Amino acid sequence: MDRLAILTGAGVSAESGLGTFRDNDGLWDNYDPMEVASIDGWYRNRKKVLDFYNIRRKQLENAAPNEAHKLIASLEKRFKVDVITQNVDNLHERAGSTNVLHLHGELCKVRPENTFCEVDGFSEKEVYDVGYGEVHLGDKAPNGVQLRPHIVFFGEAVPNMTKAVEIVSKADMVLIVGTSLSVYPAASLYHYAPDSAPVYLIDPKAPGIADARIRHIKMVATDGMREFVKMI
Ligand code: APR
Repeated sequence: MDRLAILTGAGVSAESGLGTFRDNDGLWDNYDPMEVASIDGWYRNRKKVLDFYNIRRKQLENAAPNEAHKLIASLEKRFKVDVITQNVDNLHERAGSTNVLHLHGELCKVRPENTFCEVDGFSEKEVYDVGYGEVHLGDKAPNGVQLRPHIVFFGEAVPNMTKAVEIVSKADMVLIVGTSLSVYPAASLYHYAPDSAPVYLIDPKAPGIADARIRHIKMVATDGMREFVKMI
């Protein structure tokens, strides 16, 4: 069975009502990422960061997977699918995708603030699932240390990048859905695909980088996924 690597960004969850970062009125128009999503921001004002992710967890509780997530999950019947997502939401999993690798962390998980990413990520014993609950200053892990979001902050290493590169380097086809390809190292991932692997992009906007290799389906995720599933 052919291996299909699907790289997703905030655009795949836009039609579920979750905001993207860099579109008009996106998250980064309303929050300063260096204050709410960076390691310096965390040490400067933990409460502001905790509140930001508490709000996003509440939004996720009221969101549902859209047809793009569901069509991505349905492709597991035809391909060996690996979803590599920059998103911290759980909509791929809730849509039924079974191989989901989060590059930038997971919104519903937290860990003690004194755990740092090893080469191959974190030992699961250090990560706790809070579901859609809130985490506040003073909420501690069993080891007595303040809990922090299990999110890759700006300024931190991306623990699953090694695994992601290995997956893409063995892919027979790559599909990118809903990302501005503006944040590295995630944005560089598709370059690791073998020359023989076609690379498709579903996004209503042209990618910031001009790359003749990319076959662009200029549509929103739901329409583009219907088109892609018909085409392959
Ligand atoms: N369907 C498909 N794509 C869409 C839709 C939609 N309905 N709406 C918007 N898009 C596209 C935009 O055109 C854009 O290319 O989704 C992309 C969103 O880009 P960003 O907001 O930059 O989100 P993303 O690429 O996921 O950001 C990467 O930046 O801040 C960090 O950690 C954060 O993971 C995030 C990373």
